[in-house]
Amino acid sequence: MATPAGIDYLVITGGSAGIGLATARRFAATGTRVINLSRQPIPLEGAIHIHADFADPTWADAVGTALADHLPDSARLCLVHNAAHKGAGSTTELTAEAMRACLEINSVAPAVLNLLLLPRMAPGSSILYVGSTLSYRATRGMAAYIMSKHALAGLMRATAQDLAGQRIHTACICPGFTNTEMLRSYGGAALEHLASLLTQGRLIEPEEIAETLFYAAGNPVINGSMILAELGFIEP
Ligand SMILES: NC(=O)c1ccc[n+]([C@@H]2O[C@H](COP(=O)([O-])OP(=O)(O)OC[C@H]3O[C@@H](n4cnc5c(N)ncnc54)[C@H](OP(=O)(O)O)[C@@H]3O)[C@@H](O)[C@H]2O)c1
Repeated sequence: MATPAGIDYLVITGGSAGIGLATARRFAATGTRVINLSRQPIPLEGAIHIHADFADPTWADAVGTALADHLPDSARLCLVHNAAHKGAGSTTELTAEAMRACLEINSVAPAVLNLLLLPRMAPGSSILYVGSTLSYRATRGMAAYIMSKHALAGLMRATAQDLAGQRIHTACICPGFTNTEMLRSYGGAALEHLASLLTQGRLIEPEEIAETLFYAAGNPVINGSMILAELGFIEP
């Protein structure tokens, strides 16, 4: 039975923290059943946690079995690809191993998870990718992460084309500086500086990105879109 949002299940990666947890809470508040895939459990009552480490290239077998245990053959799913690894390193120092590690978690895992779940996705389902402002542009010292987030934009566009006619829509939501552990690891002074670069003079809260994802799940008109959610950068 679909919830008021028209979605039976949210399947989300990286729901243990940050934007993923806020998104799981947003969907759960409407009665949507939540299935989370990450290494740490999701701190949300009633949510199903399936252990997944996307850095391990063999993750798909066990996760596929667990998903089959928890999902019906066909349901309206919203699949949110949110988990990511913030690999550091510039193009002048990056190793092949560091590149592969980042691409494996941020770009390859979403494509593999699509293959596991597409056979169960009824019309009205959606596949949402959490990209970044770095799906559009670049900054110094994060070459592998930037590659992986640009790749995600390409995967979203391919998804929109390849699923034409199936009534499954997709979009890539691209957050700017969001107040989560991923950003807080830079430290207080850096956070103040980042907030000063935005037109609203503050960081984005994870709940604001969750709300954007919730909107995208219920509105197929955005199919194929890159949705920038960055609070407006102040132009130099
Ligand atoms: N915060 C920002 O400023 C910002 C800006 C642009 C884009 N984003 C994007 O927003 C998304 C969420 O980031 P966040 O800021 O919420 O970060 P976060 O708080 O650090 O959360 C990252 C999530 O990814 C999961 N994860 C990381 N490595 C994993 C692995 N090997 N296998 C499975 N799960 C893994 C983590 O779960 P476990 O540790 O439990 O595995 C965690 O739930 C990411 O795609 C990120 O690139 C964030």
